[in-house]
Amino acid sequence: MKKELTITYEEFDSVNDLNNYDSSLLDFAIEASKKSYSPYSGFKVGSALILNNGQVYIGCNQENMAFSPTICGERVAMFNASSDSDSPIQTIAIYCSSDRYTVTEPGAPCGVCRQVMSEFEMRYNQKIRVILKGETGKILIFNGVENLLPFAFSGLKI
Ligand code: THU
Repeated sequence: MKKELTITYEEFDSVNDLNNYDSSLLDFAIEASKKSYSPYSGFKVGSALILNNGQVYIGCNQENMAFSPTICGERVAMFNASSDSDSPIQTIAIYCSSDRYTVTEPGAPCGVCRQVMSEFEMRYNQKIRVILKGETGKILIFNGVENLLPFAFSGLKI
């Protein structure tokens, strides 16, 4: 039997169309991207998240000449929060820019980061809102990681 999944998200033309909470979280992500250590790709990913308790944590991608130790900005932000607090993630904002070209589309998080987001949702039994923005172009908002990662691995019950 053929089945279909529907993915929903919101699309905005400008940060001016966002509410104040979301646009200031994006500002934190933009600021975080400036600390990106990305000499190999020139691609800067800044991420900022807000927890239920109102605390904001940031992260940015950290590259390494051995390549595989490189870690994405989203995971740096999530693990930064998890290292310091036990409050669930409410919203995560992700901003991408490049030293080499203009990023004209929202940068979608990689599969590994989506899996980590998914586990945060399972751990706290709360959906995470995900806000994506490039240097120019639309802003996307996903309500829940299921809209970015259908069929996430969830075999081990926690
Ligand atoms: N990167 C992130 O920080 N987040 C993602 O979701 C995808 C990719 C980083 C890793 C690397 O430093 C650079 O972007 C180019 O892949």
